[in-house]
Amino acid sequence: MKPRTCLAIVLAAGEGTRMRSARPKVMHALAGRSMLAHVLAAVGAAGTTATAVVVGPGQDEVAAEAKRALPGTEIFVQHERKGTAHAVLAAKAAIARKKPDDILIVFGDTPLIAPETLQRLRAPLAKGAGVAVLAFRPADPAGYGRVIVEDGAVAAIREEADASARERAIALCNGGIMAFAGKHALAILERVGNANRKHEFYLTDAVAIARGMKLAAVAVEGEEDDVRGINTKAQLAEAERVTQQRLRQAALKAGVTLIAPETVFLSADTSFGKDVTVEPYVVFGENVKVDDGATIRSFSHLAGAHVGKGAIVGPFARLRPGAKLGEDVHIGNFVEVKEASVEAGAKANHLSYIGDATVGSNIGAGTITCNYDGALKHRTEIGKDVFIGSNSALVAPVKIGAGAYVGSGSVITADVPANALALGRGRQVVKEGWAARLRSLKSLRKKKARAGD
Ligand code: UD1
Ligand code: MG
Repeated sequence: MKPRTCLAIVLAAGEGTRMRSARPKVMHALAGRSMLAHVLAAVGAAGTTATAVVVGPGQDEVAAEAKRALPGTEIFVQHERKGTAHAVLAAKAAIARKKPDDILIVFGDTPLIAPETLQRLRAPLAKGAGVAVLAFRPADPAGYGRVIVEDGAVAAIREEADASARERAIALCNGGIMAFAGKHALAILERVGNANRKHEFYLTDAVAIARGMKLAAVAVEGEEDDVRGINTKAQLAEAERVTQQRLRQAALKAGVTLIAPETVFLSADTSFGKDVTVEPYVVFGENVKVDDGATIRSFSHLAGAHVGKGAIVGPFARLRPGAKLGEDVHIGNFVEVKEASVEAGAKANHLSYIGDATVGSNIGAGTITCNYDGALKHRTEIGKDVFIGSNSALVAPVKIGAGAYVGSGSVITADVPANALALGRGRQVVKEGWAARLRSLKSLRKKKARAGD
């Protein structure tokens, strides 16, 4: 049998007023990745054959994010926000053109959804159902539509605002995600009206309509952690907690040593090699790759960085985007690296800023690359076998040739040739006996002052 085709329609046009934010709701991130990107990753992995995303007017940022997260996605604009069924109809052209066997309606604000759950929801369609609803039993049902079951079948979904006290007591809630038989979807959706408290076209009305058309409506139950919807910042934080737990479990399963997993924060794309150790209290921002045998010590913050094989980072290190550490590099406490390549074996162990640089050797405590002249950024290049004395300021653009020495406390403003010594500091002046003379002068003054009392 030919596999069934499936069009996924992701609704992302809502303003998300309950988030109290200027950003569109679906752009808020979990583990460094937008909710929309999480949803599209699940949709892409669920065996769908086409995807449409419905965005609000002027939400170019959301459209761009959708195309980035799942190339080939078609964008539709819902010009007025008149409810979830109205939003689905914004993508009517895709339904009419693709004539899919199955249609999955997925909410952009349900980011924890797993591909397997989407597949499970489609299964009843293959057996002739008209509509399948993803239901769940949340610990706190407030805000969710209630699923009304009669004689073992789903009779209707009642939005909380329209529900009676008895209906509100129902524990089974609507996860929002629905699957429709493609051949009936438009006929069902076009019958949805807006005779409710909010005067919105509710997708949830599709259930009662399908029943009226003698089509079977079924509920498929999912876990709360898979289905939870994000309407508020508190729910976003709760979903972040779940996501972090999943990522930590996945890292442990892949063999990463997390000494205190609950204190390590990961991004959806954090990548670890074999035998990596992460000490307590480490944050991984987006796009970090840690190679085999590396150790990330406590209180370090990494983002956009590549940590080479066997390297040691931290404690208290900061790796910013473009930081590239070669094999066995050591980056120690209070060292910040940005847009810089620290080459194999090099060490920056204490109190340094390395920005826009190539570092081929060890650098002393407190070395700073002065990369910014107030308008432009410039590069510093430190060759191999160089000695950079502590507390040196390297004013870029500047090159320190292989084998050169830079005296401690120097401010280096010009290139240093290979094997040369550069000193860029005031010459020391020593005045023999000066301090002793000062002290005796002071005690003489004190005695005189007392005598005068
Ligand atoms: C919806 C369901 C509710 C369910 C809950 C699960 C409806 C009517 N209600 O409520 O039964 O329990 O999800 O999380 O479907 N959107 C648009 N255009 C609109 C309105 C919404 O694109 O005009 C999008 C939003 O961006 C969001 C999704 O649809 O991604 C759901 O909208 P939201 O307002 O969050 O619905 P809920 O009140 O959560
Ligand atoms: Mg919602």
